[in-house]
Amino acid sequence: MAPSNSASPLAPLLLLFLLLFAATDMADAVRSTPITPLIAFLQSLQSAALASLGSSGFDPKVYVDLPLKRDLASTQAAFDALPRVDGVVPAATLQRYVDEYFGVAGSDLLVAQPADFVAEPEGFLPKVERPEVRAWALQVHALWKNLSRRVADEVREQPERHTLLPLPGPVVVPGSRFREVYYWDSYWSIRGLLVSKMYETAKEIVRNLLSLVETYGFVLNGARAYYTNRSQPPLLSAMVFDIYERTGDMEFVKQAVPLLLKEHKFWNSEVHKVTVQDAQGHKHSLNRYNAMWDRPRPESGTIDEESAARLSSAAQRRNFYHQVASTAESGWDFSSRWMRNSSDLTTLATTSIIPVDLNAFIYKVSYG
Ligand SMILES: *[C@@H]1O[C@H](CO)[C@@H](O)[C@H](O)[C@H]1NC(C)=O
Ligand SMILES: *[C@@H]1O[C@H](CO)[C@@H](O)[C@H](O)[C@H]1NC(C)=O
Ligand SMILES: *[C@@H]1O[C@H](CO)[C@@H](O)[C@H](O)[C@H]1NC(C)=O
Repeated sequence: MAPSNSASPLAPLLLLFLLLFAATDMADAVRSTPITPLIAFLQSLQSAALASLGSSGFDPKVYVDLPLKRDLASTQAAFDALPRVDGVVPAATLQRYVDEYFGVAGSDLLVAQPADFVAEPEGFLPKVERPEVRAWALQVHALWKNLSRRVADEVREQPERHTLLPLPGPVVVPGSRFREVYYWDSYWSIRGLLVSKMYETAKEIVRNLLSLVETYGFVLNGARAYYTNRSQPPLLSAMVFDIYERTGDMEFVKQAVPLLLKEHKFWNSEVHKVTVQDAQGHKHSLNRYNAMWDRPRPESGTIDEESAARLSSAAQRRNFYHQVASTAESGWDFSSRWMRNSSDLTTLATTSIIPVDLNAFIYKVSYG
């Protein structure tokens, strides 16, 4: 690595542009624990659907988002009993089965009116004067109504039928196929909600994310059972800080702090922490993205399997899956930034990179 001047704690950060270091391969440390029976089943449905419907316009995420209408055992038994031609369920048969046994993907999240939404908040964007620009800004502002959701009661009553996690409060979702709340998307939503003066909605999002820290020890990538093994850029304390700056609500901060400390501990524990030594022999503790996962991401299972098919050994495929999930943890997803060979996705090496943005986020949490 390039030598760094350890006199300034900022100096190592400035030198960290995609710095490669000799990482011990975490793939070995990632233990293959079984995924939940529900996710395993929905992934087999996903593979069957790809075989039936073909890859054109196929979105694997739809299948792991399907809420069950009945219990898993009878849903699975009916699936196993479907007629197959050369191992493939005919498309029309599969469609009938899906309609009969599942709700629509996303139907377990209900549209909710945010309580603090007003069509034109007092003092909204005071510097925007041109009427047509103001009108457009108010249209964007009105989208909060479109993106606000709450978890349906049935998810709380029968969580075993849903990959959706039962969050306590209302949420704002990114939209489209991203039906559930996401970690770092929420940071940008909150920045916008503060402009829209929807302070209570912003706090509710944070309370939901804090509840994930309480349960899992960290904020999941998103509020789904299949996201429990990776996080996203740690911006929870930045959310709390930004809300505090606007509202001065110290009680809110006080409630958050213990869980913010818990999250900080997660990012500075074995999985994400690396120690690097500079030319003067000084050691620096830094962080990397490193998902606790080494199999296809359930929401993109068929895609990851196809990408990995070119790799020849099971160990290489496991490492690839681990790198793909770790790249998803970065929040930026897939680009040459994380690849050893920019035209070959299978060379993703995210866990061997110390990202300057991640380290800046964690530095801000540690030293303000
Ligand atoms: C949100 O807007 C999109 C695009 O205009 C529309 O298709 C969708 O039905 C809206 N959803 C809600 C919940 O208002
Ligand atoms: C995935 O996460 C769950 C809960 O956070 C944990 O119990 C499990 O061990 C993790 N699995 C792997 C493969 O690390
Ligand atoms: C990078 O990947 C491409 C596509 O697989 C391949 O053709 C090329 O030879 C690779 N380059 C190097 C330097 O390995």
